[in-house]
Amino acid sequence: MKTLRTQVGIVGAGPAGLVLSQLLHLQGIESVMLEARSRQYCEERIRAGVLEHGTVDLLNQIGAGRRMQREGMVHEGVELRFNGQGHRIDFRELTGKTITVYGQHEVVKDLINLRLSEQAQIFFEAEQVRISEFENAGNPTIRFLHHNEDYEVHCDFIAGCDGFHGVCRPSVPAGTLTLYERIYPFGWLGILAEAAPSAEELIYCYHERGFALHSMRSPSITRLYLQCNPNEDIASWPDEKIWAELQKRLEGPQGWLLNEGAVIQKGVTGMRSFVVEPMRCGKLILAGDAAHIVPPTGAKGLNLAVADVYVLARALESHYKTGNGALLDAYSETCLRRVWKVQRFSWWMTSMLHRFKDENRFDAKRQIAELDYVTSSRAASQTLAENYVGFPLS
Ligand code: FAD
Ligand code: PHB
Repeated sequence: MKTLRTQVGIVGAGPAGLVLSQLLHLQGIESVMLEARSRQYCEERIRAGVLEHGTVDLLNQIGAGRRMQREGMVHEGVELRFNGQGHRIDFRELTGKTITVYGQHEVVKDLINLRLSEQAQIFFEAEQVRISEFENAGNPTIRFLHHNEDYEVHCDFIAGCDGFHGVCRPSVPAGTLTLYERIYPFGWLGILAEAAPSAEELIYCYHERGFALHSMRSPSITRLYLQCNPNEDIASWPDEKIWAELQKRLEGPQGWLLNEGAVIQKGVTGMRSFVVEPMRCGKLILAGDAAHIVPPTGAKGLNLAVADVYVLARALESHYKTGNGALLDAYSETCLRRVWKVQRFSWWMTSMLHRFKDENRFDAKRQIAELDYVTSSRAASQTLAENYVGFPLS
């Protein structure tokens, strides 16, 4: 048995855990991270692609932004497409801000490199991770198995950054947390293709056959999504069928063509809205997907995870530097204000752009009217733009 002692034990090396450990490091606060998956798996897992301006600024400030500045694609707007016509929402004009398209796995790669270059302690492939003694005045402990050796980490606080399927949230005694949830009757089938993007910006498309999204990862890689059944079998979607469906749904103005290419990755994701309150139990503090999930239509999950740990790092800094626990005590409430605004936005974008099983002709007309309003009223466009580019980190 090996015993370690640190200030903050971080479970999970996703965006939340990695950004937190770097923020703490910059404040001279020690942490140990453990991650269930291998480094390679974390660095190759294809997920989010849109970074809010506040996320970009923070990554730059903590020294993780060099490659993002070179390779990230700054977007000044998005297109909403319906009835075969495109309508641009101009973020720069409406908010003075932009977003950056840069893959989550690239962010993770940059953060892991940075943390390891600073001799951070990250245990990849940690097995049988368990947490205990975090309630009230306890002595928080994380136990795990690493390369067949038992470890015990004693810490002041445990940061539960282990995502929706992690071990931290389920370790909280029953009855302590209140769950709020909505599961959607559809999922997204996503592909990564070796094809140049077909437009300079993202296209969110409402179509009678279902939602579709055109995004990208680089000047030669396109990321595309299709609304599908929540438990769709990917095996029943050969590449030709995916392209045919994308071509139909993304059909644009005369002369617009969707570029096709070799499909290098594909998968289906379910969609849910989920929040637990409070985001803390004694000395266990939850952050990111461990505490909340949003449907991806608003491109918010990663950004919300970063916003949580920004609040958490400042609270821990105040605790260690001044002994004042007020910010830690306010952590959950501070985060939840943003979380619920982002939940509302993500639910709204999802509701406006997808077809629902139980909808009728009235609902479809209402959705088109809403899209028409959002794209023709400056006030409504500005509301979408303000939420999409993200609120300042508080
Ligand atoms: P995660 O990234 O899930 O990280 C948690 C980590 O904990 C993982 O590495 C996991 O392996 C590890 N872990 C789990 N259990 C254990 C355990 N028991 N012990 C140790 N480690 C454990 N968000 C956006 O902002 N913009 C987008 O454009 C966007 N698009 C998306 C598209 C798709 C298809 C999907 C699926 C998600 C998208 N998201 C998007 C959401 C975003 O990917 C997540 O919100 C984000 O990954 C949350 O980060 P996190 O660090 O909280 O959790
Ligand atoms: C992506 O590029 O993966 C992406 C972009 C926008 C979204 C969701 C995902 O809303």
